[in-house]
Amino acid sequence: MTSTKRFIEESFPVKEVSVESAREKNIRHGHISTLHIWWARRPLASSRATAYAALIPAPANIEEWQKERDFIVELCKWENSNNQQLLERARRKILEANAGVPPKVLDPFGGGGSIPLEALRLGCETYSNDLNPVAVLIQKCTLEYPQKYGQPIPKTQYLAERPWLMREDSRSLTDSGSLFADRSEMVNPLVEDVKYWGNWVLAQAKKEIGRFYPEEPDGSIPVGYIWARTIPCQNPACGAEIPLMRQYWLAKKAKKHVALFPFVENNTVQFKIVGDGPALSGVEGHDEWPAGFTPENGTVARAVATCPVCGSTIADKMTRQLFQEGKAGQRMIAVVTHKPGTSGKKYRVATAQDMAVFTEAEAYLQEKREKLMLAWGMDPVPDELITRPCHDIDRPPMYGMLSWGDLFNARQKLALMTFVEKVRQVREKMLGIGIEDEYSKAIGSYLGLSLDMQTGFNSSLSRWENTSQIIKHVYSRQALPMMWDYAENNSFSGSTGSWLNGFNYYMNSVIHCSTIPFSCSVTNNSATQLTFENDSFDAVFTDPPYYDNIGYANLSDYFYVWLKRSLIITYPELFFTPLTPKNNEIVSDLNRHGGKNNARKFFEEMLKKSFQEIYRILKPNGTAVIVYAHKSTEGWETLINSLLDSGLIMTGAWPLNTEMQTRLLANETAALASSIYIVARKMARQPTGFYTQVKEELNRYLAQKLERLWQEGISGSDFFIAAIGSAIEVFGKYEQVMDYEGNVIRADRLLQDVRKIVTDFAVKQILHNGASTALSTSFAGEISDLTRFYVLWRWEFGAAKAPFDEARKLAQSCSLDLALHWNRPGFIQKEKEFIRILGPPRNANRTA
Ligand SMILES: C[S@@+](CC[C@H](N)C(=O)[O-])C[C@H]1O[C@@H](n2cnc3c(N)ncnc32)[C@H](O)[C@@H]1O
Ligand SMILES: [Zn+2]
Repeated sequence: MTSTKRFIEESFPVKEVSVESAREKNIRHGHISTLHIWWARRPLASSRATAYAALIPAPANIEEWQKERDFIVELCKWENSNNQQLLERARRKILEANAGVPPKVLDPFGGGGSIPLEALRLGCETYSNDLNPVAVLIQKCTLEYPQKYGQPIPKTQYLAERPWLMREDSRSLTDSGSLFADRSEMVNPLVEDVKYWGNWVLAQAKKEIGRFYPEEPDGSIPVGYIWARTIPCQNPACGAEIPLMRQYWLAKKAKKHVALFPFVENNTVQFKIVGDGPALSGVEGHDEWPAGFTPENGTVARAVATCPVCGSTIADKMTRQLFQEGKAGQRMIAVVTHKPGTSGKKYRVATAQDMAVFTEAEAYLQEKREKLMLAWGMDPVPDELITRPCHDIDRPPMYGMLSWGDLFNARQKLALMTFVEKVRQVREKMLGIGIEDEYSKAIGSYLGLSLDMQTGFNSSLSRWENTSQIIKHVYSRQALPMMWDYAENNSFSGSTGSWLNGFNYYMNSVIHCSTIPFSCSVTNNSATQLTFENDSFDAVFTDPPYYDNIGYANLSDYFYVWLKRSLIITYPELFFTPLTPKNNEIVSDLNRHGGKNNARKFFEEMLKKSFQEIYRILKPNGTAVIVYAHKSTEGWETLINSLLDSGLIMTGAWPLNTEMQTRLLANETAALASSIYIVARKMARQPTGFYTQVKEELNRYLAQKLERLWQEGISGSDFFIAAIGSAIEVFGKYEQVMDYEGNVIRADRLLQDVRKIVTDFAVKQILHNGASTALSTSFAGEISDLTRFYVLWRWEFGAAKAPFDEARKLAQSCSLDLALHWNRPGFIQKEKEFIRILGPPRNANRTA
């Protein structure tokens, strides 16, 4: 074996890094997650800490261990992301461990880019890849452009290199206050240029379609328009138009209650704005709050609609049918406004005039759409069909919205299409004044992402959030919802969701990424077929997909169809397929792969192929850190086996709780660590090992390893995981392990044995170390299997119930058959797919 141990193979500050990772979830300002949505992003803290610990050698002694451990905890903090002193020390140490050259590191499943960003920050020669073109674009904007083009330069230089900024009409497009004020300062040229060209896009779009968002007579600006979809009442004697609304709240704050109040006039449903609360006293524009009015109850719940005129109901099936048959409509109900210079939002009922403006926008849409269709050779409004059936995104098609463009009303289509047109034009404009091609591509990319942000806030699935009084992004959850009532955005308003607001917000993340002086190389391939040479990487740090957890390709089609229109000329290689490429996506999708079992198999096969690729491109003594999404131990054994089959040997596993939770209550389900960071090595293997010998070796190895883990403060089920991580190393040294009859032993068998060794160790520690004082006094000496089970249960899950499979494995390691126990009077209870252990401890004595 040529490899030398890495820090992460010996030790890792699990608890501290978990805390930092969980804390990071509340940080928005400057965080890369604000640039563009990507699902299940990994925290920077855990990415940074694991990468560093995998690139430095294992500590030589206890002092060094303590010092390095403390350093890792400091290094991974968000606040230290740009602490040059710490970073320099980290980079130096990494270089020393790698013969003075930056290690070459790859993330084949880069996603939103957090793992490669941290490798870059640590000074590695970093490569990032993803199959999904949307992710690739996000990665370029996170890992490549800020580092290449965002290094601060003196303002005087910035201005001198951009003579066009001096023109009077251009100045209004810059952040002129700060740009021309103190010229001795430094600026981030990329950020300033994106702002400038973003303002250019906005100004052009406003010039053309701003008239469709007229200001109020008092100068207030419309922020949004509240719409309700409608269906005709099916009672033949009524036939009224039912506005579908989940509820009527507009503002629901302690000091301000505003709602739409429905009433019937001439057989039609009308609305007025009613208000209440100290913030509204003396404010005009709303009626008194009607006695007993509860805005929570709207006209529709779970697709069952109630007619406010005659009171009859329409069943969910019928509602869907009406939508599918094109019998549904929509009605503008209210307008939300904001007066610049004042605080708060105001509401008024929509008028015929508002609708007249909308109708004009509709007519203009027709005209412009035809024109652009001829010019671009494709419909400027996405006509690609939404993939179905598909649990995450097929709600809209169930209601007759079949294409991605159907998710937008006419004025929304017009706005987005116009922004697309301007983003396409901005590139020509830049090239026209001599901006270098690559650089104009970079600027254009950010404008494409800005446009994506508009699509998220300005669709007919975007909702009015009445507590903070803002429009919510369409992907507040990991799926497309059906919205009965929605909020249309005014991209020109300057409020949340508008063009300016969006890009000013994400610019901070570009500034954050610009502080790193090295740039990443981003590729767009399947992780199962990488284009890199054999034996070429020092490390692979990655976070592969996990079964059906997230349907990245399906979800991201929402953005892909717009990016394709705005950036196809810039990136023909990324946006040439009709929708995001799906055939090679590593996911378990029962619709795509023909049933649940096939889907599982497909996922497992493809994941194994990607491990084989990792094995192939790693240098002989290279290290891999692979994140495993840990929702249950399901799939854990399969994972271990496929790693082994691909030649990668697990040498460590650290469970991190990146979603922190407080102590579990009795009724809650015991949650497992949110992810496991698996360390694996490409090592030379011996052909065959015999199981009895392997077991002896395992006992010896674990005896010292478990001590270390215990000292690390890892407890409960996390302890098992970490122990298993170490155990595989012993097992994996052999290409195959056999018993004396010649039967091949797989990882699941090994895991059973490991659990047994680990439970023995844990029970001893718990009882003799006083970890649980009440128990240690009551169970001295020999204890029964059932008692061992009880002790371990409390240690592992506390008072919470646990999924059956977890309970079964724990029982197995105590030589118990759970099924023999749960039906008998005793302390083990089965509740559907869960097991609960009854207290108090006295019970255990009696039953045992
Ligand atoms: C769990 S995510 C990575 C998230 C990332 N660590 C982050 O922090 O944003 C997995 C990624 O794998 C990508 N993916 C799925 N199948 C792939 C394949 N065959 N090759 C490369 N990437 C693939 C998905 O598009 C997704 O971005
Ligand atoms: Zn009716």
